[in-house]
Amino acid sequence: MKTTNQLLKPVTAKIGENGNIEIGGCDLVELAQKYDTPLYVMDEATIRSICADYKKAFSGYQKVNMMFASKALCTMATSALLAQEGFGFDVVSSGEIYTVYKAGVDMNKVLFNGNNKSFEELTLAIDLGVGRISVDNFFELSLLNEIAKSKNKMVDILLRITPGIECHTHEYIQTGHLDSKFGFDLTQIDEAVELILNEYKNLKLHGLHAHIGSQIFETSIYGDEIEILVKEIARLDEKFSLKLDEVNVGGGLGVKYNDEDVPPSTYEIADKIISRLNSCIEKYGIEPPALFIEPGRSIISTAGVTLYTIGSSKQVPKGKTYFAVDGGMADNARPSMYQAKYSCEIVNKPSQELAKTVTIAGRFCESGDILIKDVLLPELEEGDIVCVYNTGAYNYSMASNYNRVQKSAMVLVNNSQSDIIVNRETLDDLISHDVIPGRLKRD
Ligand SMILES: Cc1ncc(COP(=O)(O)O)c(C=O)c1O
Repeated sequence: MKTTNQLLKPVTAKIGENGNIEIGGCDLVELAQKYDTPLYVMDEATIRSICADYKKAFSGYQKVNMMFASKALCTMATSALLAQEGFGFDVVSSGEIYTVYKAGVDMNKVLFNGNNKSFEELTLAIDLGVGRISVDNFFELSLLNEIAKSKNKMVDILLRITPGIECHTHEYIQTGHLDSKFGFDLTQIDEAVELILNEYKNLKLHGLHAHIGSQIFETSIYGDEIEILVKEIARLDEKFSLKLDEVNVGGGLGVKYNDEDVPPSTYEIADKIISRLNSCIEKYGIEPPALFIEPGRSIISTAGVTLYTIGSSKQVPKGKTYFAVDGGMADNARPSMYQAKYSCEIVNKPSQELAKTVTIAGRFCESGDILIKDVLLPELEEGDIVCVYNTGAYNYSMASNYNRVQKSAMVLVNNSQSDIIVNRETLDDLISHDVIPGRLKRD
């Protein structure tokens, strides 16, 4: 059975009565007119649909904590929606902690990750009652214990480890040690545990955490990851009589950005994870631990599209035809950063004959600011609205103000209703943090 992360478009995408593409029952041309472009559009039904896919797929294991990886998209409205769906949150900064807190999330269901958490960030996490901190290195262990001690608090932690496997879409590497900035190497775990048990009395260790990559298509890697984590839990019990009852396998499930991408379903990864976890529980003789998963991209990517308006065009003599849109690398950094490939359609011409191969260029002052290379589209003209699919994850969350362009607005659509969930920045927002020292001021 197909799950939502395997779709290219939001579940509600269709051609509406007036011949334009609509999502969530909203005509995208009308949305572009009402809210201006570039515009991030998030489809509520698609978010709820993938949440249901995950919950169903993992219902076969008795203790599962779904944590949405906020780095994929962090807004108050989407956090509130995902909390309604029963998700907790993996956060990586004060900003993400504060956003979910202000969205009314149960902070006990929040897990703080990151390889260089600051004193201020750890303090905020403790003060706001973040449920778990995944400690990444020896420096953080000591710092966190100091802060917890000064507040006379016990802090519940996991240890982030590098299991020696890593996967990015098609490549899957397995080594004894992984050259990674994240987490404790397998050979450093004992020293960390000894410190926690003997010196860092304000830290309570609950389990182990790993994350093996993103946009993963290769399901067997999760089985290998589980094996390493459970084997370590059993070994630590044997060596230190330490009962760890939580295992966090991270995120990583892939999505379909274009026709070439064939990501697995939530059922396929759940089967791999649960069956290997159950067999490892038996093999290593441990009590069934609570399973944490923290998907980001696969929860939110498919629900999002970005609307742009076509402006100028350029025909290179005997070369490419470029059409430029009013956004680009500042609202979607992935094509210029990772050569990520996206798919698009023309909102006001979804049924027109595909006539010409063109390149959709961004508006920013970098030659590399190309959104989609060589895409077959209908005849284009100024004012056409382009809909780029699968932009819900790592687009807004990586957005910048490059060229001092205001960040785009975001709307949530559902049942023919659209609501602003992030306002478009204004010119005054752009200068609101600027200060001119007195000596530079004109009289
Ligand atoms: C620790 C951790 N967990 C979860 C995720 C989410 O990964 P994805 O968006 O691929 O599901 C990431 C992404 O980098 C991560 O670093």
